[in-house]
Amino acid sequence: MTVDEQHPAAPQDPAQRITFFDTTLRDGEQAPGITLNTREKVEIGLQLARLGVDVIEAGFPISSPGDFEAVRAVAAEVPGVTVAALARANEKDVTVAGEAVRDAERGRIHTFIATSDIHLTYKLKMDRAQVLGAARDAVRLARTIVDDVEFSCEDATRSDVLYVAEVVGVAIAEGATTINIPDTVGYTMPNEFQRFLLDLYEACPSLHDVVLSVHCHNDLGLAVANSLAGCQVGARQVEGCVNGIGERAGNASIEELAMILRTRAEALGGLWCDVNTPEITRSSRLVSRMTGYVVQPNKAIVGRNAFAHEAGIHQHGVLANPLTYEIMDVHSVGLSESEIVLGKHSGRHALRNALEELGYELDRDELDQAFNRFKDLADRKGRISAADLEAIVGDEMRVEAAGDGYTLREIHFEGGTGDEANARVVMGDTDGNVHEAASSGDGPVDALMKAIDAAVGTTGTLIEYQVSAVTSGKDALGEARVVCEIDGRRFAGQSVSTDVLEASAIAYVRAVNASRHAEHGERIAGGV
Ligand code: KIV
Ligand code: ZN
Repeated sequence: MTVDEQHPAAPQDPAQRITFFDTTLRDGEQAPGITLNTREKVEIGLQLARLGVDVIEAGFPISSPGDFEAVRAVAAEVPGVTVAALARANEKDVTVAGEAVRDAERGRIHTFIATSDIHLTYKLKMDRAQVLGAARDAVRLARTIVDDVEFSCEDATRSDVLYVAEVVGVAIAEGATTINIPDTVGYTMPNEFQRFLLDLYEACPSLHDVVLSVHCHNDLGLAVANSLAGCQVGARQVEGCVNGIGERAGNASIEELAMILRTRAEALGGLWCDVNTPEITRSSRLVSRMTGYVVQPNKAIVGRNAFAHEAGIHQHGVLANPLTYEIMDVHSVGLSESEIVLGKHSGRHALRNALEELGYELDRDELDQAFNRFKDLADRKGRISAADLEAIVGDEMRVEAAGDGYTLREIHFEGGTGDEANARVVMGDTDGNVHEAASSGDGPVDALMKAIDAAVGTTGTLIEYQVSAVTSGKDALGEARVVCEIDGRRFAGQSVSTDVLEASAIAYVRAVNASRHAEHGERIAGGV
């Protein structure tokens, strides 16, 4: 009997279906160092649609012209999902959010205002009556633009529940179709959260007429537990992000929520969702590559050790019968052995077939680019695995998505044990200019980054630097990730190459390019 056969799918009661609202492109993007441009948001949006989430919150359109454009593009290009745009409870935000989702198959305006006294006093400088009025006006206006309006009480779990009930009652009366109760600072406990929601139902009976949603942050590591606790007392929408990214410690992890519903449906009274779980691994890898946020090895569901058995006694048990130590089937999350799929003599046709098998449909130009990268890699490495292919296609998407910016043309090094490290770089820009500079440094990576700074006139401080292998073996592709601070803001960059110094340099150049793009779009300080 397989692990999945042990959990036969129970009949699915429509009343128990949980709507998945993915906010990777909005709350996820608020994580320090993440900036996703339009192309990147569309690529992730298309993958989220394959993953089967119901709603994609694509961004906060008023926050910058770039974000407006990205939400507009996701709305226009991602089929089969509801696309939501975030708006504070004021006329301008709501109007702009409505414009951004105009071309969506189904558009949603998600408007919010804080309800806790701490936020009212110190952030909004408004009294309770003013907040109530702003909520009323925002929902009323949003309903003149779209039929699907979500209203959130920011910092709800630290608010007076009777006041939240009053605000929520007004939002429902004005036509809100989903009411979202965020645990904005990740402070609540599962039992407290249930009590809060039950009290809310009691004080606001009209809450039974709309969808109750929960949006939990992970500051105390309770985001997923709190979300499920909410569903057990009536919530029918959960909000979260792929890989659990988001503000501070992040949001509830979409893949954990989906796999808990799949694995423990009975324990949860038959709750279920339509997430296409075999797309989880690919979604996780894509988001990790595009955001530069590496997934911790022991992360549930998508960490590289999540299905690895180290202790001999465990390995023995799993070989005898997977049920001994495995509660989920690796295939149910889309994780398969990375077989060798291609060799250096494989042609364009074989590459196209392999990519299609992995779920990538490339147009002619994209296939040409991927083929060049593939040939280059095959010459250096010989045998190419599925993981290698995913890495280079993901990397190509980033190159394309990055649009204008500097490119690295050459790097040269000198140095060795006890010697000073020296690096020289030659860079190009989109106007065809060449920028060349050399620098010494404390090791080759430091020298390289200083040379890049000197060539393009930036001063970046490296905050984080990681190199990991995409596959095993001495000839493995190396994946480099940097987070650096440029002009007081953090930017992430990532790249893959068989040469880890080249990957590191390209990752740094991408962070520099992200900082340049950010200069062109004014952001609301501090995000939401
Ligand atoms: O955490 C939060 O309160 C939010 C709201 C904007 C929904 O992200
Ligand atoms: Zn949030």
